[in-house]
Amino acid sequence: MSYETIIVERHDAVTLVTLNRPQALNALNSQVLADLIDVMAAYDADPGQRCLVVTGSEKAFAAGADIKEMADKSGPDMYSAELYAEWSTRVCATRKPWIAAVAGFALGGGCELAMMADFIIAADTAKFGQPEITLGVAPGMGGSQRLTRALGKAKAMEMCLTGRRMDAAEAERAGLVARVVPAADLLGEALSTAKAIAAMPPLAAIANKELVNVAFETSLSQGLVNERRLFQLLASTQDKAEGMSAFIEKRPPTWTGR
Ligand code: HXC
Repeated sequence: MSYETIIVERHDAVTLVTLNRPQALNALNSQVLADLIDVMAAYDADPGQRCLVVTGSEKAFAAGADIKEMADKSGPDMYSAELYAEWSTRVCATRKPWIAAVAGFALGGGCELAMMADFIIAADTAKFGQPEITLGVAPGMGGSQRLTRALGKAKAMEMCLTGRRMDAAEAERAGLVARVVPAADLLGEALSTAKAIAAMPPLAAIANKELVNVAFETSLSQGLVNERRLFQLLASTQDKAEGMSAFIEKRPPTWTGR
């Protein structure tokens, strides 16, 4: 697959997507969105691919939505085109797991893209922020909502109102990122984590992702019902029979995704 703004590589069952607009610190223009939507849909539809990593460069995961593209767009134009809705409806609709591997700047839309991932692994150089207020706007691709759910009101409000950047160590303490690793190890760590996920039974991977996401969308009692139902559904799969037999027989399992 060849794209204008991203590089796509296959590492066995893991798809690696590298944002590739170095001249603009990977600013997210409409072509990046189109390319990401396309590659995510292809990944979701390919039974041979079981985890995906999105990463950027050493200096920037992504420095935000493309300000130069946005500058001339009018409010009515953005409203009638429902600008950026496709990030939510299409990128976030990916059912299979994906990870953001973040080094350097993850600002504005870059921070928002990272937070759309199932989890973030950060290099010790990572800097997260929602500086939209300094441009006269506010987050528009989920930042005010996902940051608040990840960090709580105090830190999210402070970051949105001041535009201050959060470094990797604080982001880990605050629960924004799963793990911080030395910058030189970021890609290796992200790929080995993705390979570990790719080696899991695929239906159970989709179900586990769905269940954790349900926790953000519903009440505890409804979430617990959802959890029991999916657990019961998974109990009818061949992979459940295989996983439990393999444990009892002290051998590695072979997953079929059925
Ligand atoms: C377009 C960008 C860009 C962006 C950087 N560039 N960020 N172009 N959109 N978001 C370009 C610069 O114009 C410059 O191009 C080149 O990338 C290198 O950037 P520099 O500023 O020279 O680098 P540096 O001095 O190292 O500063 C890095 C930086 C700074 C701190 C990350 O670039 C910065 O503040 N960027 C903007 C961050 C931001 O405000 N993001 C939020 C965007 S709004 P030239 O051609 O001059 O060399 C947003 C809204 C999302 O994301 C929601 C939408 C609804």
